[in-house]
Order: sequence, then structure tokens, then C-alpha cells
Amino acid sequence: MVLAPLRHQALDWATDCPLTTLALALVGAGWLGSYVLSFARMLVDLARPGIPLKRFGAKKGAWAIVTGATAGIGRDFALQLAGAGFNVFLASRTTSKLEEIAQEITAKYPSAKTQVHAIDFSDPKADYAALKAALDPLDVGVLVNNVGKSYDEPTFFQDLPDQDMIDIVEININAALKVTKIVIPGMVSRKRGLILNVGSFASLIPSPLLAVYSGSKAFLSTWSQSLGSELKGTGVEVELLNTYFVVSKLSKIRRSSWMIPTPKTYVRSVLSHIGVRGGAVGQPHISTPYHGHAPVQWVVDHFFSNSFWLNYNRKLHLDIRRRALRKREREAAKAVKAE
Ligand SMILES: NC(=O)c1ccc[n+]([C@@H]2O[C@H](COP(=O)([O-])OP(=O)(O)OC[C@H]3O[C@@H](n4cnc5c(N)ncnc54)[C@H](OP(=O)(O)O)[C@@H]3O)[C@@H](O)[C@H]2O)c1
Repeated sequence: MVLAPLRHQALDWATDCPLTTLALALVGAGWLGSYVLSFARMLVDLARPGIPLKRFGAKKGAWAIVTGATAGIGRDFALQLAGAGFNVFLASRTTSKLEEIAQEITAKYPSAKTQVHAIDFSDPKADYAALKAALDPLDVGVLVNNVGKSYDEPTFFQDLPDQDMIDIVEININAALKVTKIVIPGMVSRKRGLILNVGSFASLIPSPLLAVYSGSKAFLSTWSQSLGSELKGTGVEVELLNTYFVVSKLSKIRRSSWMIPTPKTYVRSVLSHIGVRGGAVGQPHISTPYHGHAPVQWVVDHFFSNSFWLNYNRKLHLDIRRRALRKREREAAKAVKAE
């Protein structure tokens, strides 16, 4: 009843207005409607629970493998997957740190078995045969390709030390490919598995002055989507985790905020949203599950052009570089004074 006068007014307006105005209004309403629907889809997605970890063998003796498991995001994956009922296989560079985290897991979750495996993923000749021999007997339910290396500070490509360039490709790309190749046959034969690849917003928007890191994460994104599609129907899920800032040594951010979670909060949100797209609305095999990151991706995907965002990132990284160089100069001056 209340809406009747409004309906009449709208009908009168539609009858009186020229056809082109009406057509433009309809196109505008459709465009706006698609944005509203997409935003609503993201909110609904973030509110719904993901695929339960039981589907991948939690509490049934399955193992979760975490690369780069001794610090930051990887450490929390190891702890929380153990808490969820997986045995945990920890692969990182430093044996002493691996043993420390294994002991922490055993103290917190006595029923979780642990295995540690020291491997330097930056080494192109790393012993992947030994890693395969350790993994083959295990019922692997989850693989988290987490290990990653970024720049010390934003740097022009031509100034990036060759070794850093090689390490980033070896750690961020080749390690993920090689470890995944080891576990897929077992996962497919058991008809269950979850492969989580830790990606970055540096691939959502290409990142000047972090070009190699950005490109390596773009590789992970494209590869994850292709692999996820290849494995459709096998029971193995592949997901690229689109990650914005998280407190860690790599990000050099020490204080958390709504948009920058601690690894604990970030990993909790990932593990409770498996199979949920979140901010990556309508993008198969990509997930932006953290509520502070999802709207950022949504805005990047829906507003402004690629060149706008590329320029935005260029200015941002030039600024970070300037500040990093100034800090280094201050520290050098302090060191000279102290001598
Ligand atoms: N933090 C962020 O803001 C952010 C944002 C987007 C994406 N990401 C991604 O998230 C992932 C984890 O990052 P993070 O911030 O948690 O890093 P982090 O705190 O620096 O931890 C890195 C982990 O990787 C291990 N590691 C490093 N180099 C290694 C090597 N050559 N071989 C074997 N293990 C190695 C380290 O252990 P050892 O030192 O004992 O070897 C440590 O366990 C990375 O892929 C990163 O690109 C992070």
C-alpha cells in the first residue's frame, strides 16, 4: 500500500521520459546492481563456514605438510593444523628451530605426531629425493606451500642482487612445484587432499620495485588455478591464498590492526574458510578469506583501472624505498658515532 504511490510515480516517469534516458537508467541500474550483488556475495561468503578439515583426514591419522614452518604464517599453520587433528610434517631450513616448534606442538597437542625435515628451498640442488622418501609412506591430507622470500626493501630490478633473484624463483616457485609433485599421486589415490598455496596481493596488483617477488606470486596464482581445474573431480582441492599484509619478519610489520592480522588470526580465518572465495568473488581456486583483506581485494577488482593501481603501487614502493634508505643512512651514521 505504502509503495503504491511510488510505483505510480516511477511508471509516470518511465512513460514520460525519452527512450535513451530510460535505456541509460536501466544500464546504470544494472551496473550498480551487479556491484551491490558482488559485494553482498563477498559478505555472505565470509559469513559461511568452509569445508570441514575432516574431509581432508583431520582426526583420522592424516598428515599436514607445512613448508617454512618455523616462523610467521607457516608456524601458525603447523600449530593450528595439529590442533585440528593432523599429524604435522615440518619442513624448513634450520633444524634447531624445527625441533623447537615440534616440541611446542607435542606439548600442546600430545596426540599429534610430528616429523621435522631440514631443507634449504633456495638450493636448486636441494635433496628432493630425500624429502620424497620421507613423505611417500605418509597419508598426506594437507600441503601448505608457505615458504617464501621477498626483497629486503623495494629495489629496481637492475639493482637486485642476482642471488636474491635466483633465491626468490627457487623458493617461491620451484619449491612449491617440486613438493606438490611429490604429494599429488598419493592424494589422488586416496581421493582426498588440500593444497594451499600462500600467495600475495603483490600479484593482484603488479608491484614495481618488487618485480621478481610480484611475478613469482603471479606464477603461483595462475598455476594454482590451472592445477585446481586439472584436479577437478579427484577429491583434491587447490587454493591460492591471496594474502595482504600479516605481522611477520618478512613483512617487517610488528603491530597488528584490523587490516593487518597476526599470523594466528590470519591462519584461523584461512582454516575456517576452506573453499570460500571471500574477497576473490567468482574467482575459482582463489581465496581471500580474512575479513580485513577481502574488501581491499574487492575494491581493487571493481574500481579504477590497472594503470591506476600500478601507479599507486609504484608511488607506494618508491616511498617505502626512500624511507628504508634514510633509515639505513641514520643507522650507519649512528654506528660511525659509536666507534
Ligand atoms: N607476511 C606478510 O605480510 C605476507 C603477505 C603476503 C604473502 N606472504 C607470504 O606468506 C608466506 C610466509 O611469509 P611469512 O611472512 O610468514 O614469512 P617469515 O615470517 O619470514 O617466515 C618464513 C619461513 O620460511 C622459512 N624459510 C625461509 N627461507 C627458507 C629457505 N631457503 N628454505 C627453507 N625454509 C625457509 C623460515 O624458516 P628458517 O628461517 O628457519 O629457514 C620461516 O619458517 C610467504 O610465502 C610470503 O610470501 C606474507
